[in-house]
Amino acid sequence: MRLNTLHPHLVKFLLVSAIAFFIGAMHGMLQVIPSVRAWLDSIGSPYGGPGHMIDPLAHAHINLVGGLVTLAMGTTYYLLPIFSGKAVYSLRLVDHSFWWTSVGVFYFYSTQMVFGIWEGSLLLSDPQAIQHVHRYYGPIVASSGIIMATGFFVYLANVVLSLTSKTRDSLQ
Ligand code: HEM
Ligand code: HEM
Repeated sequence: MRLNTLHPHLVKFLLVSAIAFFIGAMHGMLQVIPSVRAWLDSIGSPYGGPGHMIDPLAHAHINLVGGLVTLAMGTTYYLLPIFSGKAVYSLRLVDHSFWWTSVGVFYFYSTQMVFGIWEGSLLLSDPQAIQHVHRYYGPIVASSGIIMATGFFVYLANVVLSLTSKTRDSLQ
């Protein structure tokens, strides 16, 4: 595969990584503002209550999966032909790994934020109501996790298929 065919597919990985790092950094700075910190502590952050969903879960995953994993995927697809001399197996799988992982991580982040704020507010106003909200959390967060995991799986498959295929990169 010619590099100028592959490269345009990789730009979006860098863009999503930059956006996720920006959101993660803003999130990190917000959660140390004393009034926000006090509210998060009052709803159980970092462990033991709904605050756990906002800090550390939402913060950690938008930075680590949104920022770092997408960056790692994009750079792996760039470096793999250079290091191995093998062409990237499938551009369609490159795009699939991108979309499943990106949609999954923003969905996961939104889920943690919405349920964290919602259940956190209920904890302070009407704790009995939390059970009615929390029953939706499991299926929703599971679906976001499955979407992210699909992206990770497609990525692994594409890397392994690239390394085991006989197609050499045309520029090597
Ligand atoms: C301006 C940028 C950032 C700020 C202000 C910030 C702030 C924070 C704070 C205050 C905590 C601790 C929360 C607590 O203990 O309750 C935290 C936790 C964490 N941060 Fe950040 N952060 C930033 C960027 C990042 C980045 C870029 C990453 C990863 C690439 C990251 C990964 C994590 C993780 C994994 C935790 C959870 C650690 C644990 O399990 O307790 N953060 N961050
Ligand atoms: C399919 C992908 C993933 C899913 C569905 C997922 C889901 C989760 C869930 C549900 C937890 C919370 C466990 C608990 O209740 O305490 C967790 C914790 C954590 N995950 Fe992930 N995760 C994924 C990928 C990753 C990756 C790739 C990283 C790092 C690069 C990561 C870093 C972390 C960290 C640091 C924590 C602990 C946060 C803390 O409690 O301090 N996760 N993850």
